[in-house]
Amino acid sequence: MSTAVLENKPNIPAEVPTFTATMMIRRFDPEKDAEPYWQDFDVVMQGTDRVLDALHKIKWEQDQTLTFRRSCAHGVCGSDAMRINGRNRLACKTLLKDLDLTKPVYVEAIKGLPLEKDLIVNMDPFFDSFREVQPFLIASSKPEKERIQSPVERARFDDTTKCILCAACTTSCPVFWTDGQYFGPAAIVNAHRFIFDSRDEGASVRLDILNDKEGVWRCRTTFNCTDACPRGIQVTQAIAEVKAAVLRGKP
Ligand code: SF4
Ligand code: FES
Repeated sequence: MSTAVLENKPNIPAEVPTFTATMMIRRFDPEKDAEPYWQDFDVVMQGTDRVLDALHKIKWEQDQTLTFRRSCAHGVCGSDAMRINGRNRLACKTLLKDLDLTKPVYVEAIKGLPLEKDLIVNMDPFFDSFREVQPFLIASSKPEKERIQSPVERARFDDTTKCILCAACTTSCPVFWTDGQYFGPAAIVNAHRFIFDSRDEGASVRLDILNDKEGVWRCRTTFNCTDACPRGIQVTQAIAEVKAAVLRGKP
């Protein structure tokens, strides 16, 4: 292990341990390549660095054409979901030190959506499904004051409010891989968020939409979605609750 010397920075230790990580990245340029291919890069990183930092370093220092999405860099915007060592994760939430760096770190685009370039996929089909479940409050009345809700009523859908629409769940789902028409876990999670909101009156519309042949019944309960979710949402449970509501109506 080597060290990087930081001078004149009073709050940072004088020496920060560094290590070399080999990043194996699935590249694809539609203007040049017939097929995606793997390319390796060695990068010198520090102990607090994440996979996103390694991608930045490659782009800034080795290959400016490397293409990926990111915005917040802190697990909020949901734009940097990718497959890291075969698992869907957010690059900004995956610390390099938590990976086995005796081997290359494999990074590729999420599966099941059209590949555009390097680590970027076309998210349109994902957001089309999201929009289709009407993920907004539907209420006929226009109250003079705020719509009152008890803490228990609010807690009913708290888990599914945490979704950041990263698509890690939907693109880890084998049903979605084989049939991109399936609404997918993320759309169902966002339907759940409103179906179980006591202020909402659109549950029956959404449940009708999800009772379609491409709706909740396609779920095979593989739990890949729950494992993939960087927000810790109980995705499979939310899907099961929507299935029960389709059968028995909104509780
Ligand atoms: S449910 Fe989780 S994995 Fe799926 S889109 Fe929302 S935040 Fe991402
Ligand atoms: S860059 Fe925003 S969630 Fe990772």
